[in-house]
Amino acid sequence: MSRNPFKPTAGASPPLLVGREDVLDAWADSLDNGPGSPGRITIYTGGRGVGKTVMLNEVGNIARESGWLVIDETATPGFVGRIHHAIVRYLKEWVEPTGRRVTGGRVGPISVTTQLPEEGDRDLSTDLRSLLDSLARHETGLVLTLDEVHRRSGADDLAVVAAITQHMVREGRDFGVAMAGLPQAISELLTDAPITTFMRRADRHELNDVQPEAVAKALREPIEQSGKHIEDQALTAAVEATGGYPFLIQLVGFHVWKQSREGAIDSDAVRAGVDAARRRFGSLVQEPALQDLSEVDRTFLAAMAADDGPTSVSDIQLRMGITKNGPQYVNEYRNRLIKSDMIRQVGRGRVDYALPFLREYLRDHAATLGLSIASQPEEGE
Ligand SMILES: Nc1ncnc2c1ncn2[C@@H]1O[C@H](COP(=O)(O)OP(=O)(O)O)[C@@H](O)[C@H]1O
Ligand SMILES: [Mg+2]
Repeated sequence: MSRNPFKPTAGASPPLLVGREDVLDAWADSLDNGPGSPGRITIYTGGRGVGKTVMLNEVGNIARESGWLVIDETATPGFVGRIHHAIVRYLKEWVEPTGRRVTGGRVGPISVTTQLPEEGDRDLSTDLRSLLDSLARHETGLVLTLDEVHRRSGADDLAVVAAITQHMVREGRDFGVAMAGLPQAISELLTDAPITTFMRRADRHELNDVQPEAVAKALREPIEQSGKHIEDQALTAAVEATGGYPFLIQLVGFHVWKQSREGAIDSDAVRAGVDAARRRFGSLVQEPALQDLSEVDRTFLAAMAADDGPTSVSDIQLRMGITKNGPQYVNEYRNRLIKSDMIRQVGRGRVDYALPFLREYLRDHAATLGLSIASQPEEGE
């Protein structure tokens, strides 16, 4: 039997990436257009599972294919140190000993976990300049991809990257930075002056849901390439079940594919596959997102689940049974949940979930989460 082509794993590139053509073209152009082209500092924002990490994989690949060196990092504490190690390694491997020409595509990903011998106090910007000088002689440069820049714990390091990038841009060097993070949490970080200027100059792309035709393609092509086949009606149902959400494209694809033994995927297979996909989505996306929150945050979210659409903040207060300092207390939690990209403001005094299918998840799991969902008063009651 052939392999399941779908990749329902955070950070794993999908068999077919859809709906991102314009954004990828913008990046490719910025590399071609030379130093100073605005897209060379780019930030991708979007909710959990929308495909930010995968975008960084792609922009890194585009750069490698054009002969650039790439360093991939995540904005956890100490990442500037890890970037420096990677730069020194590149210097040693590719520049210092042999002066060897760096050729496109042949430079593999570098493992930054390898500890280098003590370098004394080598200076990051000096090393970066040496590397860029050498690369410039071969008409190429260096790209840094930086994931999860919304993390507060990485803010100091981010300020260093911001400062260095400003210098490299001013000096007209071939240096690019592609970043990714949760939208609201990034905005919260921007209070820090050097980071603000840096981020404001960056090309910002908000990654969104994918259109149904593109979802259909992302499901059908990998299925057919793996030697199976999906009926039209079944495909329509599968597309609908994803809600256009990239993580669900992979999850639905994976579980639907698994359901069919004979190679033909029909509506029954889709029904069973979608059920399994939703369950996995809960444990892969909803559950970890909820775990990061406080008890009161979760109670707030559960109070919203009584509605089928946006909830007014005053209803939440009522359902949570808050009387003392009510509006102030509820607003504080509302703001916290907006900052952590769990909910978003929709019009005056109303909020809705920022994660797809969170309502359904909370309804199904209220008991195990120790939450209660207020029942909705019936009409005419
Ligand atoms: N454009 C896309 N088309 C199809 N699948 C995608 C796309 N973008 C992401 N995916 C899939 O969605 C899942 C989540 O992607 P990831 O990059 O980890 O999201 P994020 O970093 O935003 O949380 C992965 O399984 C990935 O293969
Ligand atoms: Mg990610």
